[in-house]
Amino acid sequence: MDRYCVMGNPIEHSRSPWIQSRFAALMGHNLQYDKRLVPLDGFAQAIAAFRAEGGLGCNITVPFKFEAAAVADHQSPRAQLAGASNFLHFRDGGIHADNTDGAGLVNDIQNNAGVALAGRDVLLIGAGGASAGVLGPLIAAQARRITVANRTLGKAEALAARHAALAQAHGVQVDCAELAAVQTPYDVVVNATASSLSGAGVPVSPSVLKPGALALDMMYGPAAAGFMDWARAYQAIARDGLGMLVEQAAEGFLLWRGVRPPSAQVLAELRATLG
Ligand code: ATR
Repeated sequence: MDRYCVMGNPIEHSRSPWIQSRFAALMGHNLQYDKRLVPLDGFAQAIAAFRAEGGLGCNITVPFKFEAAAVADHQSPRAQLAGASNFLHFRDGGIHADNTDGAGLVNDIQNNAGVALAGRDVLLIGAGGASAGVLGPLIAAQARRITVANRTLGKAEALAARHAALAQAHGVQVDCAELAAVQTPYDVVVNATASSLSGAGVPVSPSVLKPGALALDMMYGPAAAGFMDWARAYQAIARDGLGMLVEQAAEGFLLWRGVRPPSAQVLAELRATLG
């Protein structure tokens, strides 16, 4: 049987096995997808072991996304821009790394939330690994303007600088700001910080929300609740990261298996399962 897995630490609560198994069942693919807890100092060994067992690919989650890019023989352009990978494919004798997080976010916003990104103003809050994974695909979706806002301005500037050529190629304006300096309204606001997790509250002014704006936190469950409550209180449309999670998995399934699974159906099922 074709074998895949998700590797991370911690990994217990990963929904990826459930999602990928549903995709496989709905598409009639016979595959096994497990989760593996990887010791913090044992990532390269874990990859080598899974390859030796005949594994065909893995998803990679916290804290190994940077190491995943490093162990690869080949990186997709979007993985290179992100500087991190959530997806590995063992094929043609080598390790191919990709990053499907950004495509997952863009597909969730456009296909599931029904907000076309072309010509929109987007605020991306945060400049860590989560932001780095999505900035390129947001640019490629032809937003009009993307502001990267971060507590540490220098990190936002470095991320934007890395994407300058892509932004120019797509005619997209990418700028940077400190969190408190962002005041003007945006159509789409994406929280890619760990601020909800730390209980620090939402780090930007509500004036960033245009009436009816889409406000999306990449987290889901209790970790996203603070940001979503804030968004609703200011008449924005609040969205958690569950759709992004399913869509990045769908993009991975497509790359591994050559067909796109019914992600909207699986997202609805997952929401029902989680209550
Ligand atoms: P991840 O891979 O989840 O993005 P990360 O690379 O550690 O994790 O980045 C965390 C992001 O959340 C950063 O943008 C961080 O801001 P700094 O670059 O200034 O550190 C942001 N962040 C974390 N806690 C925050 C808080 N309480 N308020 C605002 N931003 C916060």
